[in-house]
Amino acid sequence: MPAAPTRLPLHSILATCFALALGTPALAAAQGAAWPAVVPRPEHLTLGTGQPFVLGNGVALVAATDDSAARDVADYLRFELAPIQTRAEPAPGAGTILLRITPGGTLGQGSYRLEVIRDEIQITGADADALFHGVQTLLQLLPPGFETPPGATRDPERAWAIPQVVIEDRPRFRWRGVLLDVARHFLTAEQVKRQITLMARYKLNVLHWHLTDDQGWRLEVPALPRLTSVGAWRTEEDGTRTGGFYTADDIREVLDHARRHHVTVVPEIDLPGHLSSAIAAYPWIGCTGDSLTVPTTWGVFNDVLCIGSPRALEFADTVLATVLRLFPSPWIHLGGDEVPTLRWQSCAPCQALMRAEGLETEGELQGWFTRRMARTLTERGRTLIGWDEVMDRGPLPPGVVVQAWRGPDRTRAALMAGAPIIASPGEAYLNAPPDGLPLERVYAFDPLPDSIPPDAAERLLGSEAAFWSEHITAANLDPMVWPRLLAFAEAVWARGPREWRDFRARLERDHHTRLSRLGVTLGPADRALATFEPGYDSVTRQVYVRAVPGMPGIEIRTTPDPIPDSGTVTVAAVLNGNVLPLGRRFTLEPHLAWGCPVELASPPSPRYQGTGPYTLTDHALGSTDLHDGFWQGWLGTDLEATIDLGRVADVREVTGSFLHDFRSWIVAPSAFTVWLSMDGAAWQEVGAMTREEALPDDRPVKMRLVVSPPSAVRARWVRVRARSSGPLPDRHAGAGRPSWVFADEVVVKGEEGGGSRE
Ligand code: ACM
Ligand code: ZN
Repeated sequence: MPAAPTRLPLHSILATCFALALGTPALAAAQGAAWPAVVPRPEHLTLGTGQPFVLGNGVALVAATDDSAARDVADYLRFELAPIQTRAEPAPGAGTILLRITPGGTLGQGSYRLEVIRDEIQITGADADALFHGVQTLLQLLPPGFETPPGATRDPERAWAIPQVVIEDRPRFRWRGVLLDVARHFLTAEQVKRQITLMARYKLNVLHWHLTDDQGWRLEVPALPRLTSVGAWRTEEDGTRTGGFYTADDIREVLDHARRHHVTVVPEIDLPGHLSSAIAAYPWIGCTGDSLTVPTTWGVFNDVLCIGSPRALEFADTVLATVLRLFPSPWIHLGGDEVPTLRWQSCAPCQALMRAEGLETEGELQGWFTRRMARTLTERGRTLIGWDEVMDRGPLPPGVVVQAWRGPDRTRAALMAGAPIIASPGEAYLNAPPDGLPLERVYAFDPLPDSIPPDAAERLLGSEAAFWSEHITAANLDPMVWPRLLAFAEAVWARGPREWRDFRARLERDHHTRLSRLGVTLGPADRALATFEPGYDSVTRQVYVRAVPGMPGIEIRTTPDPIPDSGTVTVAAVLNGNVLPLGRRFTLEPHLAWGCPVELASPPSPRYQGTGPYTLTDHALGSTDLHDGFWQGWLGTDLEATIDLGRVADVREVTGSFLHDFRSWIVAPSAFTVWLSMDGAAWQEVGAMTREEALPDDRPVKMRLVVSPPSAVRARWVRVRARSSGPLPDRHAGAGRPSWVFADEVVVKGEEGGGSRE
């Protein structure tokens, strides 16, 4: 029997004297018992009736001595319990925690059994991972107050009650992953380790480490130093340098931490597309050989690996050799998503390779590359994972794992095609803000699509929650991850029907506190972290941004404040002293038509209304983000606007400010024509400009079309027409469909003409 503790907290669990079977939490609540709030919900849980186990100094922590895996788990638990002093041998008067692994025993694969009686806790796992999961459950049987905030230590004299309970539990899926994209925004090794610590508490067991993408290369490869000296850094639009990378020591440190937390780290090197950062470092791996800079915008870029070049293939082999040396994972992810074939179409070596290999299409060239890399991995005892596009580009070698991200239909197709599958549909893309993907929808997520026959369902390894980081940095990672990752963890672990209210009750009663005490800043369940809505007040002629925080602790910061008449303005959300990647940045440019009424020949789309009726004269210029709230958009029609200057002026120059974002179906106007009038009835065309400059297909740019008459023209009214470039061209995925015209301002320059303002 344990010695009577001096300060035993009266955890409410003591109040219960009923043995209850899982599945009846409502009954437990009705009887006043606090049902253990374990997440993910265990398969079977029976609450005992007796006095609780008391955890305090002198408790024995005993692992089967001949089992090093069990001893490792015991070491982990000892670390988690510190500063409680544990002994290695049972002693009279102190409780015992007994850990063991019984492979081939009565426990099914991946199962653990946890039994708490008055003076003994037994955790038995079918394997080391299962034992570790049992230990996680034990930690959740401790009250939330047991968790220690970072930098604090627990009261070493305090004892803690653990209710008598029998839990038998096992995972539904073996692959319960988290995808961290450290390419778009870098996370330090320390930050990655923290995520591993936290995910392991909820029995998530795969870290898919997305190490490379267009905007950054994060893995040091000694033979290719420019990958990190050049490819790991980018210069943002505001001139700041951002980036970072991992040395071999960083990687080893993360892997060691992951191993102790029973998390498998699966590295991803995205090939042959999403490779701009590497091409910036070594232009000869691309088809054109042209140098480029590490991009600062998001999306899909045309420059990809030149598969026809032996030197570029050698590059891929060198990178892979480093990956294999560093990472013991049985699986290596080689990407393969969103690979444009444009460059291969006009590349002599790529075309030559296609002929030599009898490949009919450029798409098959990617298939050839995937098979080549899969062969290399197989020879080294590893398995290739690819995004689901690899299924479309020629035959796949058996065993290749497909990660289906383009919805349940892709998951279904891949399962039926016979491949092992990781399901990562939109409901698991937790980079979507919680207003679009709320907690409840994540909780309802089922990785297995409807009506899959059992033999095909067997091939579903599991799922991954993805945190693509275009709009996630270390500053908002926590509130984006939590609490939604709890819902995901239950979705991939627990069997049986989802009980939303029960789940939410467990969160509110326990895990919000638990996570907060671990130093986690939880985000909203179903709202954006913050919203920003630009507007224009025609009375004060002021541009403003209505900013609404979606969670406590967010402060809105406008710089400069108050907003001046000209220059660049940022409106940012600040959390825990860090700026979140969600704000607005715009430029104010005063001109003659500032605040003048605008008459439009056709209204803009209800989806893209800018700051309202004065968008084109509000003197605010938006960013390259089409959704920033400064842009008006017209689909399939010209933009025609008439502006009343309210007084006569000498007009020298009229400029249309437009967005060109080809991938988003927004194409700069093909022509811009300007008319002026003294009376609003008789119009004089003063010039037209046609667009000649070639604009990029693969990133958004702002562009201007300018009309300057040979000399200033007196006028009161200004009329402009921006001609739609018409249907999307053949090279566009939406070829033949109408394109958009996006405008944020018509800038009128000149001198006040002496006429009086009415
Ligand atoms: C992906 O989301 N491009 C895999
Ligand atoms: Zn090529």
